[in-house]
Amino acid sequence: MNHFISATDVTNIQQLVNKGLQYKLNPLLDAELGKGKRIGLLFLNPSLRTRLSTQVAAANLGMEAIVFNVDKEGWALEFQEGAVMNGTTVEHIKDAAPVLGQYFDILAIRTFPTLKNKEEDYSEMFIKQFIRFAGVPVVSLESATLHPLQSLTDIITIQESIQNSFASKRTPKVVLTWAPHIKPLPQCVANSFSQWVNAWGGANFVITHPEGYELSQQFTNGATIVHDQNEALKEADFVYVKNWSSYEHYGQQLNTDQNWMLTNDKLALTNQAKVMHCLPVRRNIELSDEILDGPNSLVTQQAGNRVWAAQAVLAKILNTLNQ
Ligand code: CP
Repeated sequence: MNHFISATDVTNIQQLVNKGLQYKLNPLLDAELGKGKRIGLLFLNPSLRTRLSTQVAAANLGMEAIVFNVDKEGWALEFQEGAVMNGTTVEHIKDAAPVLGQYFDILAIRTFPTLKNKEEDYSEMFIKQFIRFAGVPVVSLESATLHPLQSLTDIITIQESIQNSFASKRTPKVVLTWAPHIKPLPQCVANSFSQWVNAWGGANFVITHPEGYELSQQFTNGATIVHDQNEALKEADFVYVKNWSSYEHYGQQLNTDQNWMLTNDKLALTNQAKVMHCLPVRRNIELSDEILDGPNSLVTQQAGNRVWAAQAVLAKILNTLNQ
């Protein structure tokens, strides 16, 4: 694996999931694999889990990780080809990325979408320019449209939960449900979860949201879309809760109906479903306290598993580099 920005970069998702679970049992299994190698973690946006779990994962593999908060500490980057740089941007990606490629063996980058220009966001211009100009493997720490380390974590968590509870004899029903929020959020986590669950193939996958919140079909094809949340929740084994803004009416909030918040009453419709969320979560807006503090919540376990997903991905890239 050269780069990791999408499920399409992975030839065998199950193998990567198994590797993550192997690292969970034995974090220092490959403690020498990254010896003498450096990873640069570049953030154009805030992060708690992605930043720290990737640092821990790199340390477990013997790599040095250096974090650079580009948005606060770096020069403002220009991404437009042919730009006349007489505005606020100071350094072109064509100049900055090759320099970063000289310092690091792997670059990992977090960007967010503008939520204003669908074509630009969905072209993944920012992260693709790093790939084009850095000359080293690039890992997405969340991009304009996808969050692959989160999604790999989510599948690791589902797999782990299946192994630990109801038999792996039957295919679990996994429901991704839209939730209310106070402001428009990217579609990244929902897009990415859909893409990975579909590519993984280990679930009966249902997506539920109010009309107007349809995600891009390039990610949801293969899932069943249901607009009645109660109907969707019936017999669910896992419920993944997430807000996203409209893809069709790009970046807009069409509905903030609090009835879409998951509560214990709704959970009663499910097969005692485990509840997932990528965090951070707006309590009692997206998800109720009773769920988050209750026995069905997987959110802390899920966030903990971010380390093993990152470690599996970094190990795969290091193995390619070491060939
Ligand atoms: N889930 C997630 O990406 O969390 P952070 O924004 O804290 O990294």
